Parts: sequence; structure tokens; C-alpha cells
Amino acid sequence: MSPSLFKRIGGDAAVEAAVNRFYEKFLAQEQVNVFFKDIDVDRQKEKLRYFFGLVLGGSQFISITKFKEIHRPLIKKGLTKSHVDLWMSMMQETLVELDIPEVLISEFIEACEPYEAAIFDTAS
Ligand code: HEM
Repeated sequence: MSPSLFKRIGGDAAVEAAVNRFYEKFLAQEQVNVFFKDIDVDRQKEKLRYFFGLVLGGSQFISITKFKEIHRPLIKKGLTKSHVDLWMSMMQETLVELDIPEVLISEFIEACEPYEAAIFDTAS
């Protein structure tokens, strides 16, 4: 069995660097600030590191249902596909900046796709 994407990307240190850099970039965008007004960003970073561990480890333990539930209130606050596209493109940019090989980035983006698609899926 080949090592998990998590290991190939560089393990805890790489994921921590990516999450920190990602939030620095993403939260600097005026159009997404509103969604994070009452959110503890340190706690949020912790959750995203955990999410990466699961997604990149090849097992999807975070249920799509829970993921949908968490993002549903944001739709009421005006979340659109353009925000999600921004999320994905800034994450991709971050990984490029950190010199993660392109093939691993593609694998990562693919692993995020079911979650991305779930955000606006209205069936529960
Ligand atoms: C495919 C894209 C996305 C992924 C993979 C993702 C990932 C996550 C994860 C893992 C959590 C924590 C879930 C938990 O509590 O266990 C979360 C929560 C959250 N996400 Fe996303 N997210 C995405 C898109 C977005 C976008 C576009 C926005 C806003 C512009 C956003 C705003 C938030 C907020 C505000 C929370 C915290 C909700 C709360 O604690 O009440 N997310 N996201």
C-alpha cells in the first residue's frame, strides 16, 4: 500500500503550514469576513487540520451529513458557489506556494470534491 497523501504531502508540519497560510489569505478577503465574524479562528484551524488528516489519510470519517449541517446556516447568510470556488482556489494557491508537488495537489483537490459538492446539495 502506498503511503497516505497526508504523509506524502509532508505530514503534520506541512498541514499546519498550509492551514495557517490558507486562513491568512482567505480571511483577508472582504467577501468572506462576514461568515467568520463570530468564529474562533484558532479553533477553526484545529478543525481544518483534523479534516485534512482524515481526507488525506484516505478515510472519510467526517460525515458529509455533518459537513452539510455545519455549512447550511452560512447559505442563509448569503454563501454562494463563488465563495466555495474562492476557498478551493486559495487552498490550491497555498499548496503551490508551499511547493507541494502538483500531482499531490490534484489528488487533494479531488479528495475535497465530495465535500465541495455537498455544501449546496439540498437533499439531506
Ligand atoms: C470545499 C470547501 C470547504 C471545506 C473543505 C471546508 C471545511 C470546513 C471544516 C472541516 C469545518 C469544521 C467542521 C467541524 O466543525 O467539524 C468548517 C467549518 C466552517 N466553514 Fe468551511 N469549508 C469549506 C468551505 C467554506 C466556505 C466557502 C466558507 C465561507 C466563506 C466556510 C466557512 C466555514 C465556517 C464559518 C465554519 C464554522 C461554522 C461553525 O463553527 O459554526 N467554509 N469548514
